[in-house]
Amino acid sequence: MPARAPNAKPQASKPSSLLASPKAQASTPFDESRRLAAVQTPVIPIVSRWIAETPGTISLGQGIVSYGPPPEAIASLRTFPASIADHRYGPVEGIEPLVSALETKLERENGIRVRPASRVVVTAGGNLAFMNAALAIADPGDEFIFPVPYYFNHEMAVVIAGCRAVPVPTTRDYQLDVEAIARAITPRTRAVVTVSPNNPTGTVYPEAVLRAVNGLCRDRGLFHIHDEAYEYFTYEGTPHFSPGSIADAAAHTISLYSLSKAYGFASWRIGYQVIPEAIWEAINKIQDTDLICAPAISQHVALAAIGVGAGYARAHLPKLDTMRRLIAHTLREGAPCDVPDPRGAFYYFLRVHTTLDAMTLTERLIREHRVAVIPGSAFGATDACYVRVSFGALDEATVELGVGRLVRGLTAIAGRA
Ligand SMILES: Cc1ncc(COP(=O)(O)O)c(C=O)c1O
Repeated sequence: MPARAPNAKPQASKPSSLLASPKAQASTPFDESRRLAAVQTPVIPIVSRWIAETPGTISLGQGIVSYGPPPEAIASLRTFPASIADHRYGPVEGIEPLVSALETKLERENGIRVRPASRVVVTAGGNLAFMNAALAIADPGDEFIFPVPYYFNHEMAVVIAGCRAVPVPTTRDYQLDVEAIARAITPRTRAVVTVSPNNPTGTVYPEAVLRAVNGLCRDRGLFHIHDEAYEYFTYEGTPHFSPGSIADAAAHTISLYSLSKAYGFASWRIGYQVIPEAIWEAINKIQDTDLICAPAISQHVALAAIGVGAGYARAHLPKLDTMRRLIAHTLREGAPCDVPDPRGAFYYFLRVHTTLDAMTLTERLIREHRVAVIPGSAFGATDACYVRVSFGALDEATVELGVGRLVRGLTAIAGRA
């Protein structure tokens, strides 16, 4: 296990986001805690409200897929419950057949040999896996390094845990800047957080760069938390790499996975993590308290989904790739924004040529042009005006219509701002 950072006196964390709640000074007994007042307000419900108030809006907003679980997984419901035991609490780390199937999958697909140095813990989704990991490895006032833009729920979890999210810039095409990450390390740093393929940029980090980050974490006594929720979603033959597969990575690497995108499983709430054996006792205490165990019925269906395998998600890649190309082509024909070239996930993260802030731009795109995106400020990107465009959930015709509206909206609003 990495060396513990010196235990300096915990400091109160500062609001780390532009969207932090204005009620930062708790004044009545019924206000939220000061810790929570520093947490950004979830952006998806805000955008969803604007969409609901504007009938006919096409949403290029939420990061979801168009499909549900494999039919084989749904068919497995016929065999649940099998006995009274299926109505009782199960093991904290997940039911044995699912843990065992995940170990096999991790070894075969990710090159991660789980035992004996690590273990798999099934959770109610990847977000809970991250929250539990943050609580397990850090004390209030400790720091987590986040390449910007970051996945907002990771940053929120860190602030909820009373820790500090330390933003670090990425390159112009959103690749990691390993030297900038190294420069951001302080005695309070506990972990570097990476996501590849990335939400919100779609960037896929090359193996060499992930090895460099993982090695840096090993050398400096930090954890490397790596989120692979989009592991199957890469294009143009771009390879996916799991840093947990590196020979000496087990003691300091926490790998996070989710069935939400891969298997159309978002409502079933199943994710899992590979953790160093040394933090199992801490994770056990946390998950025994905040979840006890992931819902048995969801684990049962997840087991059948894992049996179907990666081909289920990959079958959707050609259609997603067609939309990815269509969006780039349409935007590059004249929208006032930089359009980088994502090779993974199902997002574009546009740098819009405007002096407007991203929340205002997003609201105006919805209300005036009936197309929804997610403001980049929610992902910590505040040096310019960014928006995230998601194409995971729509058919080609709707994407075409939506991107047409986006080009016209950006031109009308940003072109004049
Ligand atoms: C990078 C990343 N991790 C985790 C999640 C959430 O996964 P889950 O639904 O398993 O909590 C998302 C959802 O958008 C995501 O983009």
